[in-house]
Amino acid sequence: MKKIAAGNWKLQKTRKETESFLSALAPLSSELKTDRVIATSPTLLETAVKAGEAAGVKVFSQNVAFEDSGAWTGEISPLQLKELGVVGSLVGHSERRTHFADSNETCAARAKSALKNNLDVIFCIGESLSQREQSLTKTIVEEQLAAVVPVFKEFASQLPGTNPGSLTAVAYEPVWAIGTGKVATIEQIEETHAWVHAFLNEHGIELPVLYGGSVKPRNFGEIAGTDGVQGGLVGGASLEAESFAELTKILENA
Ligand code: PGA
Repeated sequence: MKKIAAGNWKLQKTRKETESFLSALAPLSSELKTDRVIATSPTLLETAVKAGEAAGVKVFSQNVAFEDSGAWTGEISPLQLKELGVVGSLVGHSERRTHFADSNETCAARAKSALKNNLDVIFCIGESLSQREQSLTKTIVEEQLAAVVPVFKEFASQLPGTNPGSLTAVAYEPVWAIGTGKVATIEQIEETHAWVHAFLNEHGIELPVLYGGSVKPRNFGEIAGTDGVQGGLVGGASLEAESFAELTKILENA
């Protein structure tokens, strides 16, 4: 199955820093074939698309509106993203769910709006620490996936199984592992990725499943080699070109 190395820059970097990152990345990644994605802020998208070409980087937004246009102050339209050469969007990142009230329903609506406009989606799911402690992980990830399954079914012809150029994927990111330095154990990753693949397969959907949460070059070898893991969604360790290239190399060789 397709592998994807994805960087989530969150609220970081200026345009100048974006250009420096991508010009440093180009020579480091000239031999790499694995798909590389950077998800960045609205004001950096155009710069990232232009400077990303030489580095073979595809640019994603971190958010996409439910609709193409209308009274949605502060949102970004899929049409506006396409106009800049952006190829997709993250949807449902835990920081959007926690701080900006994205729900399973709004996440599904955002995924639909993106796919309807031929943008790819990296759909993020994951349980909180208290949910994990109450053994609710499987229930939570299945609930999060159930909301978006009808959307994936509707746009099945755009998913990687049918359209090899697609970068649409699920990212499993335990909330307690994001930005904390606490990585899920290999057993937890393998078990949860198996649940995610099984749930999708029950609905006739096959997608790459990326792991995210404190991924670093030092721990990614083992994670990337785990059954059911097709890539990484990486925050902190995607901010330096050397580290992002290293992560991509590790994934390619896993
Ligand atoms: P982190 O972030 O790698 O810094 O933990 C991951 C993410 O939020 O996608």
